[in-house]
Amino acid sequence: MKKKFLALMMGATLIMGLAACGGGSDSSKSTNKNQTTTNTAQAGDAQKIVSQKCFACHGDNLKGSIGPDLQHIGSKYSKAQILNILKNGKSGGMPAGLISGSDADTVATWLAAKK
Ligand code: HEC
Repeated sequence: MKKKFLALMMGATLIMGLAACGGGSDSSKSTNKNQTTTNTAQAGDAQKIVSQKCFACHGDNLKGSIGPDLQHIGSKYSKAQILNILKNGKSGGMPAGLISGSDADTVATWLAAKK
């Protein structure tokens, strides 16, 4: 009986070991991702800001949620118009002044190119 229990425990440890390995390969995957985004520093910055400040309302990858889909916003607004929305908000629930200065500029440039 005791032997069987020991064997079970060893099996469990083995499985836990395998799970830990799986976790390791996951973290290497995310470092690869970081490397590709640094190639295009500006787009990477804009994407980072947008994912932190805008995804909550505009959805993952801006495909729309509480706020409208922004995936082709560049065909609707110019960079200056987007900057204006970022500065002043929109009456339907878009908050004013979420980002400003060079962050707003980077994001507006990036969004205006989404046609
Ligand atoms: C609190 C939720 C919320 C957040 C956060 C938010 N938005 Fe919005 N946004 C909205 C809503 C709601 C609208 C629709 C407003 C309207 O049409 O009057 C909107 C509209 C817009 C529009 C105009 C879309 C159009 O077709 O007219 C742009 C551009 C925009 N948001 C950009 C952004 C960017 C960039 C960010 C991140 C810096 C952001 N939003 C963060 C809720 C949000």
